[in-house]
Amino acid sequence: MIPTIAPSILSADFGRLKEEIRATERAGVTYLHVDVMDGVFVPSISFGMPVIKSIRKDTDLFFDVHLMIIDPIRYVDDFVKSGADGITFHLEAAEDPLAVINAIRGAGKKVGLSIKPGTPFEAAIPYMDRIDMLLIMTVEPGFGGQKYIDAMTDKIAEARRYIDEQDLSVIIEVDGGIHENTVPIARGAGAEILVAGSAIFGDDTEGKTRRLLELVKE
Ligand code: DX5
Ligand code: ZN
Repeated sequence: MIPTIAPSILSADFGRLKEEIRATERAGVTYLHVDVMDGVFVPSISFGMPVIKSIRKDTDLFFDVHLMIIDPIRYVDDFVKSGADGITFHLEAAEDPLAVINAIRGAGKKVGLSIKPGTPFEAAIPYMDRIDMLLIMTVEPGFGGQKYIDAMTDKIAEARRYIDEQDLSVIIEVDGGIHENTVPIARGAGAEILVAGSAIFGDDTEGKTRRLLELVKE
């Protein structure tokens, strides 16, 4: 796939969410990264179904919903109904990852599996032939604005090698600490969708999104 940036609305001004999303659309993004946190799997609480439903009316972007919640299978249907196009759940949060994969697939949506920095890539291998996307966290999930963990670059490269060797079509997404300096690092290791929150939202969302999009294609 053509590498791209997925803006994470976690860092957007929620009072101007519609305008913020429009600005990223004008810059040319196709994915919107939507972070759902439950205060249990991660310390923070973000937002849930009503917010997703509401922004769904305003845009046709691909909603890449990142569930940082325990027991994700409980909410698959709710997020599908809210307008998710793809649902990514955490391997560490699922008692039965295959059941979650099947529930998402059964609803006709793209399946993403995410691993935290402390979870080795090998833990995802049993599921690699059943998912559409592997989300490698490059920070501890829970908050925007953290620093990219350098040791994750090797994990991205390892996943890239595996996907190429096995001739799979799994997309590698990375999330956390992505900005102008880390885009080339994550891209160089083989990431294809790069999530960026604090590097994009704020003033000149359109311009910053545009610059990252150009950088990611280099
Ligand atoms: C963190 C979230 C990220 C976050 C990234 O738990 O999953 O998507 O918004 O924020 P930045 O780009 O600021 O690191
Ligand atoms: Zn995320």
